[in-house]
Amino acid sequence: MNYYDRSLDALMHAYGRYNVTFDHGDGIHLYDVDQKEYIDFFSGIGVNSFGYNYPAYVEAMEKQLHRLMHISNYFNTVETIEAAECVKKATKLDKVFFTNSGAESTEGALKLARKYYYQKHGKADSEIISLNHSFHGRTTGSVKLTGNAHYQEAFGPLIEGVKYANINDLESVKALISEKTAAIIVEPVQGEGGVYVCTKEFLTGLRILCDEKDIALIQKSNQIDFTKYADAIIKKRGQIKWEKDVS
Ligand SMILES: Cc1ncc(COP(=O)(O)O)c(C=O)c1O
Repeated sequence: MNYYDRSLDALMHAYGRYNVTFDHGDGIHLYDVDQKEYIDFFSGIGVNSFGYNYPAYVEAMEKQLHRLMHISNYFNTVETIEAAECVKKATKLDKVFFTNSGAESTEGALKLARKYYYQKHGKADSEIISLNHSFHGRTTGSVKLTGNAHYQEAFGPLIEGVKYANINDLESVKALISEKTAAIIVEPVQGEGGVYVCTKEFLTGLRILCDEKDIALIQKSNQIDFTKYADAIIKKRGQIKWEKDVS
């Protein structure tokens, strides 16, 4: 059996994989098991920003493998603290919570927003506003926030209290706001079924709306440069600066 047939035999058919098996990479290039060279425009779906075999990354990983890997969340490591400080500096965020995946980030943000609402209202009946055509992951919580019935239909009943507005249509968001709204979740650039970019006016409008209503604005930026949109999401009303072009 070739690798493709072996993969069909051994791996669950959750993803439609291509018939190519990679061996290694270097810079922007990937090499398959027959050493055929490819230019990698995929980049692990936009997340391998260093390219392959990047010397500083390889060196840091090698060094770390000899020292410590997982030690649980009950203890600190110097590297975790330093990484969090780097993220804080780049994003201007107050605090950092590391997760293993985009779906887990979505879940964490969802729980944080709901807990804030719960502490404020003493009730666990919050609502979340998401956008149509969004994508937030494949866990049962994040799939509900994903504004696409196709991803949801087989997995019900899913979490309750999620409503869907339209990108760049602030009025459609406002129409869904209620006393129960705990958060609005938005990708500054939607990448599911096309590329749809939030306008400056829309993101600014969301920021102002969330400040006014004291609700969380959750920004999902899995495959885009977070820092590019940080001003729109983090800064408070009246202080939004658009240092970089987002439109
Ligand atoms: C915006 C967004 N959120 C969440 C996810 C899910 O990420 P993961 O596959 O790491 O769980 C993705 C992945 O494509 C994404 O693009």
